Amino acid sequence: MVFLWLTSAILCSILMQIPTFILSSFLTIKPIMIPNAASLHSAFDPVMGTLSGGSPTERRLSDMSGYYADTKAFDSLLAQGDALHYAVSAVAPAEGEGALHYAIGNLLPGRVGREYFMTKGHFHAWRAAGEYYIGLSGEGVMLLESEDGTESLLLPLTANAAVYVPGYTAHRTINTGDVPLIYLGIYPAQAGHDYGAIAERNFRHVVVDVDGKPVMMAREAYMGSGMF
Ligand SMILES: [Fe+2]
Repeated sequence: MVFLWLTSAILCSILMQIPTFILSSFLTIKPIMIPNAASLHSAFDPVMGTLSGGSPTERRLSDMSGYYADTKAFDSLLAQGDALHYAVSAVAPAEGEGALHYAIGNLLPGRVGREYFMTKGHFHAWRAAGEYYIGLSGEGVMLLESEDGTESLLLPLTANAAVYVPGYTAHRTINTGDVPLIYLGIYPAQAGHDYGAIAERNFRHVVVDVDGKPVMMAREAYMGSGMF
């Protein structure tokens, strides 16, 4: 008798747990969060450097004050007009952990002294975040620099080429051609942009035109070279 009573009590207890288990299973399943379809699709022009649904940021020549080594050449160029230097248009369809953003860059061609037109360059605020750059049109290079400034690398950025920028690495895009350099950058939504560190110290190397070819040179060596 006692055995039967115990068995039925245990059975009842198990049966009472089943609805709770099923309910909690449903509660722990994360809802599928797909943003509206329009935010998942955007079209870009690989020659014009435009992006549908993107929020554009423009940098003019005056925004580049202090970035080029040859200040005399910079002032002389600025006196001719504060022209558009580059534009970046970004799409941010989602935020948070795991989300990705991407942007299209349009860097105009030209020189300041012997230095090619370039972007300001930046670290990611979240230093560990990497990024892919994909060349679409034009000819350029990417200058990479380690956080402690002891290592530098110059890599081609051209149509049909991709450059992986590892975390903890400053990166700058440079147009070495005669037409706009158009490229995509794909990066974690949480990467953030730290322009302050570069504004303060700049890159340790410059990329200059030597006999029509881009050459990476230590900034101090360039400054003392008599090349300008
Ligand atoms: Fe970046």
